Amino acid sequence: SSPPASSATAPSVADVNAPKQPFVIGVSGGTASGKTTVCDMIIQQLHDHRVVLVNQDSFYRGLTPEESERVHEYNFDHPDAFDTEQLLDCIKTLKSGQPYQVPIYDFKKHRRCSDSFRLVNASDVIILEGILVFHDQRVRSLMNMKIFVDTDADVRLARRIRRDTVERGRDLDSVLEQYAKFVKPAFDDFVLPSKKYADVIIPRGGDNHVAIDLIVQHIHTKLGQHDLCKIYPNVYVIQSTFQI
Ligand code: CTP
Repeated sequence: SSPPASSATAPSVADVNAPKQPFVIGVSGGTASGKTTVCDMIIQQLHDHRVVLVNQDSFYRGLTPEESERVHEYNFDHPDAFDTEQLLDCIKTLKSGQPYQVPIYDFKKHRRCSDSFRLVNASDVIILEGILVFHDQRVRSLMNMKIFVDTDADVRLARRIRRDTVERGRDLDSVLEQYAKFVKPAFDDFVLPSKKYADVIIPRGGDNHVAIDLIVQHIHTKLGQHDLCKIYPNVYVIQSTFQI
């Protein structure tokens, strides 16, 4: 069999002296696909690096009083439901090494907590998680690695019913109605088409330990290469490509 494709790159003096840029990972997938579990497992296994998690959900726009009165007609699964400009600002700020005040979103009241924020500090790795993080080209272009969590729709719906009724204060009828009217069509129109941008697709989400181990190994290699360049500026780094 033929050896893996490889290329040798010599770090330039500018690369070696450049300030360390955080490694940005995008994690997308349908509702209740297990994105949070995958992120938690990656964070746990990257314990020797500073990692921060940013949720796209934090950037939901708050509803106007009129929209709040007719919340059953509001599409929370459409790209316009998010303040993407602010999300971009957040990731660009964190990438530049500055901290960012991330809004806190209340799923029961469908609005942001006006007086509190979560202060996210600069770090080695930034993970951005959400159903539509691959939708906007400008957001995608900030990512070094894109992961799509692929879980069967029936599994996701079952999880969503449990979560929305237990944690988000919804009743069964409203969950099923919202799923049929907005969640499923938006998955077909926006989420699924963005899967093509993924570098890695993880079947079965958080249950897939092999895929997560491979991803973490790859991140370690990428972060290690950067450190190696700083310590041994004359060392050539051999990059190899792999597919799961
Ligand atoms: N949503 C809602 N009400 C709001 C805001 C959002 O019901 N006020 C729903 C949207 O319909 C959307 C979902 O929240 O489908 C997005 O969250 P989801 O991706 O399901 O949550 P995570 O916990 O990130 O998912 P996972 O289980 O994959 O970790």
